[in-house]
Amino acid sequence: MQQILDMEPLEALQALKEAGVFDGGEDKQEAYEQLEILAHKGVHPVKLLGGGRRREEPKDEPMDPVLTSFDLEGIARYIKEHECKRVVVMCGAGISTSAGIPDFRTPGTGLYDNLQRYNLPVPEAVFDIDFFQKSPGAFYELCKDMWPGNYDPTPTHYFLKLLSDKGILLRCYSQNIDSLECLAGLPSERLVAAHGNFDAAHVICTEPEVLVEIDELKAAIDKGEEGWQALREEKGNLVKPKITFFGEDLPERFGELHEEDLGSCDLLLVIGTSLVVAPFCMLIGLTRPGVPRLLINRESAGTCGKMPMGFRYEKEGSDNWRDVFQAGDCDSSCRALAKALGWDGDLEELIKSRGRAPVEMVPWMLEAGDTQETNEGAA
Ligand code: OAD
Repeated sequence: MQQILDMEPLEALQALKEAGVFDGGEDKQEAYEQLEILAHKGVHPVKLLGGGRRREEPKDEPMDPVLTSFDLEGIARYIKEHECKRVVVMCGAGISTSAGIPDFRTPGTGLYDNLQRYNLPVPEAVFDIDFFQKSPGAFYELCKDMWPGNYDPTPTHYFLKLLSDKGILLRCYSQNIDSLECLAGLPSERLVAAHGNFDAAHVICTEPEVLVEIDELKAAIDKGEEGWQALREEKGNLVKPKITFFGEDLPERFGELHEEDLGSCDLLLVIGTSLVVAPFCMLIGLTRPGVPRLLINRESAGTCGKMPMGFRYEKEGSDNWRDVFQAGDCDSSCRALAKALGWDGDLEELIKSRGRAPVEMVPWMLEAGDTQETNEGAA
């Protein structure tokens, strides 16, 4: 890995490919293609795959178990006994399905199975920057349905707020563009909207970037093709919400924070995502090897068979020392985790009050005086 680190990004990616890192399965091919786009822009694949220089510890070799049991109770016990202060959450569309927003890839109900009316070459094209430049109509039509404002946060969103109020959430990395984390009351400094959202709009392919008022874009889209064509003429190119499309860079905030956050966290919770979109999915490999990782999802995802430094919960005995898979619904699983922590009352109050109920910090953060000392990095 060291040698690869010293190579140019594209050369390093080629070396990883030849080493078989991307062999087997469409998911890996997709990861490779996205890393290739980033490598062309100078981003080193090894940094994203989790082999950066900053780690001294062994990377993915068996250690003594860090959990007393590999379930929600074990995670709850770990939080309390180790007085966790820097929890990172990674989440995806699964945390919003109970709000009525479909995810992307669940067969039948997922968005990508329901775009026939747009005649797309592949469903993902609707979020592809090259396709958008050629055929913007499909995205603009879809936008009308996706525009935030019609949905309420779910119990899982309030669970994120609970972790923040308890003083132990370092950061929530969300792939979602629905802004429901903010609506649940999560402070903006605790959130990284890794795939952007509808808070702002921009003229595509401008350097420096030209921003457009989001309300101006909404008004144009509501008028249909005539509206967005007029806006295009006025601004010199197409205007879109600042959602990260395939082929675009992730927001700067993601680049600024992810290495430090993941490298310093003391627990990783991954909720409601298929972990197939890079570079986001690669974050799970950036935690230190002794840091427990919990996946809450309806289906298995992000395993070490699919990605470097992936989850090892399918492995037997000492081959899994830190990973837990809680299969099932994320709202009931978050409720169960809150109960195991003795925080179920707080969570229900937050849900009832739409995030407004006061919540007391955990004793170890109160003792620390304030959160500045312990989970700073808020940006
Ligand atoms: P996916 O649709 O790929 O994955 C959602 C995951 O959540 C699936 O594994 C579901 O089984 C699971 N799931 C759904 N509802 C659930 C529930 N109530 N409880 C527990 N699990 C549930 O969505 P993402 O992983 O978020 O990118 O997709 C990542 C990115 O792909 C998105 O951000 C989007 C898309 O292309 C862009 O728009 C740029």
